[in-house]
Amino acid sequence: MKQLYLVANWKSNKTVEEAKEWVSVISHNFSDVKIPSHVSVILCAPFTVSAILQQEASTLALPMHLGVQTISSYPNGAYTGEISAQMVKGLADYVLIGHSERRRYFHESDAELLEKAKQAAGNGLNIIYCVENADQPVPTEAVAVLYEPQAAIGSGKSEDPAISNTMCKTISEKHSNVPVLYGGSVTEETVKGFIEQPYISGVGVGGASLDPVRFFHLIEAFSSYAG
Ligand code: PGA
Repeated sequence: MKQLYLVANWKSNKTVEEAKEWVSVISHNFSDVKIPSHVSVILCAPFTVSAILQQEASTLALPMHLGVQTISSYPNGAYTGEISAQMVKGLADYVLIGHSERRRYFHESDAELLEKAKQAAGNGLNIIYCVENADQPVPTEAVAVLYEPQAAIGSGKSEDPAISNTMCKTISEKHSNVPVLYGGSVTEETVKGFIEQPYISGVGVGGASLDPVRFFHLIEAFSSYAG
């Protein structure tokens, strides 16, 4: 059975109170459902709620890993405003690097992203590296690649799963068979069509992760998939 990843990305959303509320709602649902060992659920939250999520996750024994959405390309030091990989240690195990929105709005280049990957890997963070196509470079340190075609992100129009499957296959074969996930407007209704594809090892979700009940339905879809 293939290992599947469900990666939630809250983007720039949620106050501390809202994050606590999300955890409280989802933890009630977990009393009925057990996540199987072939499924990894990873919540990539803003830095501002990392500490509280880490606390709540351990108190409530939440069956998910915590991640952040970007990381500095610099180590600790005089880099005002930056969050270094070392600062995140103990708060998160995963980091998203190279999300399409970081590339588009913050002009993060391939070279800068590869520096970020070095910092993350050097500090023991698991990298989920995002690309928009098969041509963008992928660092060897990535534990998974998240393929997200720009037009599908936040548009409500996900890509045809068969097309995504072909793209994920190409990316995976180019990079030592790294697991490749699809992201872009995935919902609890469409998720199955993606995870059933042979070369798609999970999905990334933005909008559908903000509501804990919707996100829980995605977890259920993953948990019932036995392909
Ligand atoms: P979306 O975002 O699910 O809201 O389209 C996906 C992503 O950017 O990871």
